[in-house]
Amino acid sequence: MATIETPRLLLRHWRDADIEPWVAMNLDPRVNEFLFSTYPREFAESRAALRRRELDELGYGWWVVEVRGGTPFAGVVCLREVPFEAHFAPAREVGWFFAPEHWGNGYATEGARGALEHAFAALGWDEVVAMTAVQNVRSERVMQRLGMTRDPKDDFDHPKVEAGHPLRRHVLYRIRRSQLA
Ligand SMILES: CC(C)(COP(=O)(O)OP(=O)(O)OC[C@H]1O[C@@H](n2cnc3c(N)ncnc32)[C@H](O)[C@@H]1OP(=O)(O)O)[C@@H](O)C(=O)NCCC(=O)NCCS
Repeated sequence: MATIETPRLLLRHWRDADIEPWVAMNLDPRVNEFLFSTYPREFAESRAALRRRELDELGYGWWVVEVRGGTPFAGVVCLREVPFEAHFAPAREVGWFFAPEHWGNGYATEGARGALEHAFAALGWDEVVAMTAVQNVRSERVMQRLGMTRDPKDDFDHPKVEAGHPLRRHVLYRIRRSQLA
């Protein structure tokens, strides 16, 4: 069972008590501002069930981020295969979603760093990518704080977003083991 520890956080498996804060996070318009697909309650609940199974079966996937000695659910951090065709795929991706009351503490960067250490050391991955809509500067700053780098030639139109949608254009960042900040 892969639990990841960082100085302030625990990336851990799901508990039943995580479902409500997970649903609430997915419904929060501040969280959804730069996301092209949103999760209504029932979909979020079924996604949580799927993610619990994946984490058990694969040993990686979507971890719940708990603040040690603090909130049991601050957000989620994921490691996964990029689930669509793109010029940079097949590839493995790191991602993050936090409840807004926990933004501004460095938790996303710290949790993602723990996940990347796990990806390189325990899973033996060579390179990990991250992506976000060009407008999502907060998420892009997490990538930069981690030491990830962007080649503008890698920017792409997300294949799951229809043409003309304002969130279609995405930046791509990459990181290899030796670059982890
Ligand atoms: C993207 C997201 C996770 C970023 O959260 P965040 O809290 O800004 O990111 P970090 O955890 O790296 O925290 C950095 C902030 O904490 C501050 N901070 C405070 N203490 C810190 C510490 N000990 N270490 C690092 N940063 C710290 C930094 O100054 C920075 O604040 P600033 O941006 O106001 O300058 C968050 O905005 C989010 O969940 N968004 C919605 C979902 C989403 O878009 N996910 C990405 C999809 S691609």
